[in-house]
Amino acid sequence: MAALADHPGIVFDAASVKESVIEAVRSTLGRVPPRFVPAHPIAGRETSGPGAADARLFESHQVVLTPVPETDARALTAVTQLWEGVGARVSVMSAAAHDEMLAVTSHLPHLVAFAYLQTVTPEHMRHAAGGFRDFSRIAASDPAMWAPIFTQNGRAVLAALDDLEQELNRLRALIAAGKREDLVQLIEESRRRRRAFGKPSVNEAVAVSPAPVIAIDGPSGSGKGTVAAAVAERLGWRLLDSGALYRVVADAALRRGVALDDAAALALLATDIEIRFAGEAVMVDGVDRALAIRTEDVSAAASKVAALEPVRAAMLDLQRAQRLFPGLVADGRDMGTVVFPDAALKVFLDASLEARAERRYIQLKNKGLAVSVSDLLATLEERDRRDRGRAVAPLRPAEDAVLIDSTALTVDAVVARVLEAARVRGIVTRT
Ligand code: DC
Repeated sequence: MAALADHPGIVFDAASVKESVIEAVRSTLGRVPPRFVPAHPIAGRETSGPGAADARLFESHQVVLTPVPETDARALTAVTQLWEGVGARVSVMSAAAHDEMLAVTSHLPHLVAFAYLQTVTPEHMRHAAGGFRDFSRIAASDPAMWAPIFTQNGRAVLAALDDLEQELNRLRALIAAGKREDLVQLIEESRRRRRAFGKPSVNEAVAVSPAPVIAIDGPSGSGKGTVAAAVAERLGWRLLDSGALYRVVADAALRRGVALDDAAALALLATDIEIRFAGEAVMVDGVDRALAIRTEDVSAAASKVAALEPVRAAMLDLQRAQRLFPGLVADGRDMGTVVFPDAALKVFLDASLEARAERRYIQLKNKGLAVSVSDLLATLEERDRRDRGRAVAPLRPAEDAVLIDSTALTVDAVVARVLEAARVRGIVTRT
């Protein structure tokens, strides 16, 4: 702040609380410079860092500006235009009004999610499904960001918490007294409010359609990884190699001595490690494991951990968070059936067992690894059986998938078919 005091340009911040920021500026500089515009873009996710960047994040999202009496009108206009330029809708209010509003719509839900997670054990999570996932998503948010938000907006957060406590007590009393009719009424009213959210009258935001996805599923050795990478490259889209995620968990389990059938421990492990894709690198807790996760040991272990529902559930948000503009090419076993059921194009890539074993043999030989084709045939067959036969998210073509048999096709020919299918569906205009 001191360094910016005499800066000739316009300065704005992006913090989730406004009164404390303005207070900090005032106490540091003795005044609020006219060219400082307090701002809060209300858009974000539970992910952070450059890897989570999204060029269209602010489209149709709100940005609140909270000017003080000293704020220069031209600076306010310039910041408004800048935010509108990236597609945001700008509103102007007092810092106090902003902080009170955000305490209710953002800070309190996060507080409640964090508190709730304190009551949940790994054993509970083993049986958790959609309700848990939706309600607890924001509990995965960054502590370094949220602890200061709660303390800096303490007054408004505590007021919102008081209101919530009252509501909880009301619910508690209704349950204790067995007042089912009253409960129905209360829930009906909450449901009505929630359903109105997002409707134009309540929130003018136009629903932004999510980034398009091309899902490519198929068995090991069908060439889906190579094809997906080539399609992503051609379109300039992001790439998700979902198999790498299960490989990373398997690799970590082998290294830490976690049993490959201990679903709860593996699910915890899966949420505990930080996985980030950076080009070819697969960064696991800051270390590149791209090569390490390709060994036959890890392949076999990955197919085992991938059969466990809690592990798959733990991976779901991470996979969906990769869906960013301009688009995502995702390869795996359940991209079209489970992870991205609304994918714009679903491809199921298959090849004969012999062709797949042969490809794998050449791949490994090129890496200087000695294996026999017959061993490969046997292990591939076993992994196929496990991936296709498991109870959760088994490998199978989505009903609306385009089937491609790559046994007698070159990689280029398969890529051309996928791009053509994308063009026919109007997903991409030029391939
Ligand atoms: O595609 P791959 O060989 O890297 O996948 C490794 C293992 O993970 C494989 O046995 C199947 C499993 N997998 C899965 O179950 N679901 C996915 N979406 C991707 C891979």
